[in-house]
Amino acid sequence: MGLKNKPFSDQIAIVTGGGSGIGRAFSEALAFAGAKVVIASRRADVLRRAADEINAKLGGERVFPYEFDIRDPGKIEDLVTDVFSRWQSIDVLINNSGLAVPETVEEITDEGWDTVMETNLRGVMHLVRKVLPHMRANEFGDIVNVSSQAGKHGYADVPSYCASKFGLLGYAEALRDHVRKNGINVRVFNFCPGLVDVENPKADQVPRDGFIHVANMARTLMYALSLDRSVVLEDINIYAR
Ligand SMILES: NC(=O)c1ccc[n+]([C@@H]2O[C@H](COP(=O)([O-])OP(=O)(O)OC[C@H]3O[C@@H](n4cnc5c(N)ncnc54)[C@H](OP(=O)(O)O)[C@@H]3O)[C@@H](O)[C@H]2O)c1
Repeated sequence: MGLKNKPFSDQIAIVTGGGSGIGRAFSEALAFAGAKVVIASRRADVLRRAADEINAKLGGERVFPYEFDIRDPGKIEDLVTDVFSRWQSIDVLINNSGLAVPETVEEITDEGWDTVMETNLRGVMHLVRKVLPHMRANEFGDIVNVSSQAGKHGYADVPSYCASKFGLLGYAEALRDHVRKNGINVRVFNFCPGLVDVENPKADQVPRDGFIHVANMARTLMYALSLDRSVVLEDINIYAR
C-alpha cells in the first residue's frame, strides 16, 4: 500500500512567524494552493494585517492569525490544542520564527544567548513534541525548518545565532531518523538560505545586491512539498549567486 497523501486543499498548516518576511511568503503560497494556514507569532497587529491582506487576495478565509510566544511552553500547548480541536489535523508545521542577537564571542550575554536559543531552537523542540503525535496518529505530515547559511558556517558577528541554527539542523536530522525508524509518514525539510530580501517582497521589486527575492523561498517550499511522499529534499541551500 502506498503512503497516505492529501491535496493541499485538505491540509492545515501552522507557520510560526507567518505574519512577516519569509513566513508570510510561505503562508501566502500555501493558502493559494488551498491549505488553511494558521500564522502564529507575538505581534497581533502584524498577523491580523497579513491575514486580512492574503485573504482579500484569495477572496476567502484561509489564513488565521494566532498570537503566541514561542518561548512560552504554555502558549505552544494552547496553539497546538486549539488548531487541532478546530480542524482535527495538523499537516504542515513550518518552524520559521527566529531572531539574531548580534553579540560577538567576547560580548555574549546570558540573556542574549538564552533569547536566541529559546526562540530558534527550544521552541521548535516544544512545537514538534506537541505536533508530531497528531501527525503520527493521522499518518501524514511535513515539518519544515528554517535554518540558515549560518547553520552551516560560523560568522563572528552572530555566534549565538549560528549555534542555534547549527543546532536546529542537528535536531532536524535526529527527528528525520526518528520518523524513519518508527515508520512515520512525516518528511522533514530544512531551508538553509543566504540573504533573503524581506524588505522588497512585492513581485515587481528587485532584491538588493547579494539577496534573493523572497518569492524564491515560497516557490521552493511548494516544489519540495509536492514531491512524492517517499522523497525528502533534506537541506535546501539557497543563495544569490
Ligand atoms: N531574511 C534572511 O536573510 C534570512 C536568512 C536565513 C535565515 N533566515 C531565517 O528566516 C526566518 C524568518 O526570518 P525573516 O527574514 O522572514 O525575518 P522576520 O520577518 O523578522 O521573521 C521572523 C519572525 O519570527 C517571529 N518571532 C520572533 N520571535 C518570536 C517569538 N518569541 N515567538 C513567536 N514568533 C517569534 C517574528 O514575529 P513576531 O515579532 O510577531 O513574534 C517574525 O515574524 C528566521 O528564522 C531567520 O533566522 C532569514
